[in-house]
Parts: sequence; structure tokens; C-alpha cells
Amino acid sequence: MTRMPKDWEASSQAWIESVEQGDPNRVYLLDEVMLRLAGDVRGRAVVDVGGGEGRFSRMLASRGARPVLVDPVRSLLEHSARKEPQIGKVRAVGESLPIRSESMDLVVAYLCLIDIPDFRQGIREMARVLRPGGAIVVANLQSYATTLPSPSVRWGTAQKKHLLVSSYFEELAHQVQWSGIQVTNFHRPLSSYFEAFLSSGLTLEAFEEPRPKSSSTAPEAWLEAAREIPYFYACRWRKSG
Ligand SMILES: C[S@@+](CC[C@H](N)C(=O)[O-])C[C@H]1O[C@@H](n2cnc3c(N)ncnc32)[C@H](O)[C@@H]1O
Repeated sequence: MTRMPKDWEASSQAWIESVEQGDPNRVYLLDEVMLRLAGDVRGRAVVDVGGGEGRFSRMLASRGARPVLVDPVRSLLEHSARKEPQIGKVRAVGESLPIRSESMDLVVAYLCLIDIPDFRQGIREMARVLRPGGAIVVANLQSYATTLPSPSVRWGTAQKKHLLVSSYFEELAHQVQWSGIQVTNFHRPLSSYFEAFLSSGLTLEAFEEPRPKSSSTAPEAWLEAAREIPYFYACRWRKSG
């Protein structure tokens, strides 16, 4: 079996606290897009790969889905079970999903691809467990935003935001830290991700670079940066059938 991520295990309490404080990227930007791309989930069998402490699985369950939360970190799964015992949970890495082939209507990969060391195998597994006609919805960081390890070195002057980018075409591992969380994140060019989805037989059906609504009530500092540069993309891949 692929190695369980000790860094995520050690950071799990800090991660739970940061999720509970509310991440503006999710709350003000990505949740709405991911739910819309997921479509009508009532009665659907969904696997939330790298689903962490289960926040998005709970959102799907409250909309009538039958989610299974897959994550390698025991304490995150335990937190999910305390919050919502009805949600299925499986301790596993995305590279080896203990799920029957073609048994899922929907796969969710919500900001987890940059955490999966062998992302090509992870994407093959997502495609394998999906039934023909099913979809994978993905939220990911833009690849131009992951070439450097720390957000603090990415921004330019206070007057104008610039993103620093280097070694774009390399696949790199970075140690990253924020809010007491210390984990490994991986940078890959966008084409590496897309080639992995395409070579798994999937078709790109939707692609969005979410931007805050003009009516957004998000904190001003976050809005200022989010309006300047799309830090994330979201997309939906379809398995033919
Ligand atoms: C940034 S968190 C995202 C959690 C959740 N999807 C969300 O958006 O709140 C990344 C998650 O990936 C998980 N992870 C780490 N290595 C993984 C692997 N090899 N396969 C699947 N998930 C992994 C971590 O345990 C963590 O829960």
C-alpha cells in the first residue's frame, strides 16, 4: 500500500481548526462552483477523495447524496464520524481506492490533487471507480500558483499584486506551512494534470476560473487578491457511456 502521509496526520488538529474557522477560498468562492458542477446529487453514490475532515461530504449529504469519505488520515476520518456518523468513511490513499470498479456516480477531488504524491495513479483510480456516464468534479490550485512553496513570497508590492512563478515545467515537491499546518504540496504543470485525465479516458466538460461576485461579503483583503488573479480552477470530467 502507498505510504500514509505522516505530515497530514501530525497537522490534522490544526487543519480541523482552520476548516472550522472558515476558509474564504472555499466559503466565498469554491463551494458554490463545486456544488453547481456536481449537479443534482440526490440519491447519488459519491466518493470524496482526500476529503479531509468531511466538510464537503456533509454538504453533499445534506443535499441528498450518499457520500463516502476517503482519506488516509485517521484523525480526520474520526472527526467526520463525530460530526456526521451517517457518512461512510474509508481510510485509504487516493492512489489505491478500496472501492469497486464502476460503482460511483460522482467522484469529488476538492483541493486534494496537490497533496497526492502519485497523482497519475490517483486519477486512474478515480476513473476506475466511476460508472460509465459518471463525472469527476475537481477544484485545484492553478499551476502557476504552486511553483513556489510559500504564499508569503508569491505576492509583489502592496500597490500591485504579482505572482512569482519559476520552474513551471518541472514537477516539484514543496514543504508548506500555514496556520500550524506543515505538509508536502506538489507542483505540476496544468498539462500534466490534464494529460492524466485525458489518458484515463475522460472528457473535459466544464472549466471555470472562479472569481468573487461583486456582491461578495468576503473580507476585503481576501477579495482584493481574489479579484486580481484566479488562484484556483474548477472543472468537470465525464466518463463516456
Ligand atoms: C488540503 S486537504 C483538502 C481536504 C478536503 N478535500 C477539503 O477541501 O476540505 C488535502 C487532503 O488530502 C489528504 N491526502 C494526503 N495524501 C493523500 C493521498 N495520497 N491520497 C488521498 N488524499 C490524501 C489529506 O489527508 C487531506 O485531508
